[in-house]
Amino acid sequence: MAHRILVLYGSYRSDRMGIRLADFLVKRLKERGEDAELIDAKAVGLPMLDRMYKEYKPGTAPPAMEALAQKIKGADAFVFVTGEYNWGMQPGLKNLTDHFLEEWFWRPAAIASYSAGRLAGARSNSMWHGTLSEMGMVVISSTLTVGPIGGALDASGEPTGEAGKALSETFPRFADDLAWWTAAAKAQRSAKQPPY
Ligand SMILES: Cc1cc2nc3c(=O)[nH]c(=O)nc-3n(C[C@H](O)[C@H](O)[C@H](O)COP(=O)(O)O)c2cc1C
Repeated sequence: MAHRILVLYGSYRSDRMGIRLADFLVKRLKERGEDAELIDAKAVGLPMLDRMYKEYKPGTAPPAMEALAQKIKGADAFVFVTGEYNWGMQPGLKNLTDHFLEEWFWRPAAIASYSAGRLAGARSNSMWHGTLSEMGMVVISSTLTVGPIGGALDASGEPTGEAGKALSETFPRFADDLAWWTAAAKAQRSAKQPPY
C-alpha cells in the first residue's frame, strides 16, 4: 500500500533552485508507488510565527494552517528538502515547521540537502537532523546531498551531468531506507497507540 509522504521545501526566492530537487523527489517517489505531495512553504504562505497551530482554539486556525495541520497529521513520512543560507537553515522552511509540534510526532523523516556549491548544503543538513529529532520525528540515516544543484537537475527536475548521475544512483537506497522505516512506524502506530 502506498505511503503518504510529504516533501517539504521552503525557499521563497524568485529564482529558487531547490524546487528542482523537491520536484525530482516527488516524481521519483510517485514512480515507486508512493502517495507523495509537495508542500511548498511559499505557496502555503504562513506568516512569520505568531501563534502555533495548537495555540488556536479548535476550528479557529487560519485555513492554510488548518489544512496543513491535517496533511501533517495524516502523513506516514516526511522528506525535508533543505538549502543553506550563510551556513544556516532557510527561514521559510523553518518558519513553516515551527508552527507545528505534536502534529509531526511518531513518523520518520529524511533529509535531502542541496546548494550551489560542492558541499551540497551539508551544514543545513546537519542542523535539520537535530531539529527534526526535537520535533518528534525519527530521522533516517540515509540522506541525499546534491551539489551543485544547477548542474545536477534541469528546470524540469530531471538529472543532468555527473552530479545528476550521482543523485540517480543514490536515490533508490535513500527511498528504500525511508520506506522501511515508514512501514515500521505505520505498523507500530496501528499495533499500539503512541504513548503521548
Ligand atoms: C542569502 C544566501 C546565502 C547563501 N549561503 C550559502 C551557504 O552558506 N552555503 C552554500 O553552499 N550556498 C549558499 N548560498 C547559495 C545557495 O546554495 C543557492 O543560491 C541555492 O540555490 C539556494 O537555494 P534556493 O535557490 O532553493 O533558494 C546562499 C544563497 C543565498 C541567497
